[in-house]
Amino acid sequence: MSEARIGIVTVSDRASRGEYEDRGGPAIREYLTEVMATPWEAVARVVPDERPVLEETLIELCDREECCLIVTTGGTGPAQRDITPEATETVCDKMMPGFGELMRKVSLEKVPTAILSRQTAGIRGSALIINLPGQPKAIRECLDAVMPAVPYCVELIE
Ligand code: MTE
Repeated sequence: MSEARIGIVTVSDRASRGEYEDRGGPAIREYLTEVMATPWEAVARVVPDERPVLEETLIELCDREECCLIVTTGGTGPAQRDITPEATETVCDKMMPGFGELMRKVSLEKVPTAILSRQTAGIRGSALIINLPGQPKAIRECLDAVMPAVPYCVELIE
């Protein structure tokens, strides 16, 4: 049996320019290392908040790298350059709005600014794409909420 491949995409102008360290991508990797019950391999990317670049990266990870799950971090807010949900929607065949709804619900119990995240999720082919906010502490809060449904969703689409 081949190992599951999981895409980890940090969406940040400054991290992609090397102006600060990417903390989101490693936080996702650490979380998945704790919770994954079967062997898996990470395919990590750091990209700027540029819609064509993110769309091409998501397509590459789904179609060529054959990831079954892709987790993005960053670019979900209201700022002009925040385009992660739009890029996700463009490349997906169908949206899974329940993921964003649940992540915002649990996040609002922690921080009132959770309302500012437009994070969503969707399916492209046999891959589930999930958006997370850029704050490293948001990663655990959000993944704890949706992770119970992820293996079943991935199984349904493979
Ligand atoms: N969700 C959780 N769980 N924890 C957080 O600290 N930060 C919020 C929100 N969601 C946050 C959160 C803030 S301050 C913003 S602006 C939005 O996510 C969007 O963040 P992003 O643009 O980095 O994706």
